[in-house]
Amino acid sequence: MEFYEVIRKRRSVRKYQSKKVPDDILNRILEAGRIAPSAKNIQPWHFIIIRDPEIKNKVARACRGQHFVAEADVIICGCAREKLAWGRMGGYMSSFAVDLAIAMDHIILAAANEGLGTCWIGAFNEKEVKEILRIPEDVRVVALTPIGYPAEQPRDRGRKPLNEIVSYEHY
Ligand SMILES: Cc1cc2nc3c(=O)[nH]c(=O)nc-3n(C[C@H](O)[C@H](O)[C@H](O)COP(=O)(O)O)c2cc1C
Repeated sequence: MEFYEVIRKRRSVRKYQSKKVPDDILNRILEAGRIAPSAKNIQPWHFIIIRDPEIKNKVARACRGQHFVAEADVIICGCAREKLAWGRMGGYMSSFAVDLAIAMDHIILAAANEGLGTCWIGAFNEKEVKEILRIPEDVRVVALTPIGYPAEQPRDRGRKPLNEIVSYEHY
């Protein structure tokens, strides 16, 4: 697909077919995450690929019971090594969440390009997700996404117009 078409067509998908995502497609999508930029090129990320139905169900429960998450063939859990990431972004913050968000968005857009659905999942209980996936104590969970063939075509949710969100020269 043409790049801008991919961006326009991506939607948060909350219904999935049971159809498998072929490994070569999944690997292309993961590669898109791998090559994402990060502060100082530290790449503080780790992605957990979850296909086991039992683990997927447990993870969906830890995502505030969003059961559709487990419907998809794959769940990706985006983790960050907080202490490894650059700690002085803007002079005041750690880059770990931004680094992970960029890589996850690469993954999400690559999935859209492959005709797959995703949904950024920010509503999760980090402690529960870490227990289920045996994530080390010093590693943070930033986001999850299901990846699978869509069983719905969500409507365009609309966005604020450019003139509300952009200014020139000053705020
Ligand atoms: C940080 C963040 C957290 C989100 N968390 C959830 C979530 O837990 N569950 C969900 O169904 N959608 C979640 N979403 C998806 C948004 O609701 C969705 O992107 C927004 O409504 C716009 O719809 P669209 O993605 O279809 O364009 C999240 C999105 C972001 C960026």
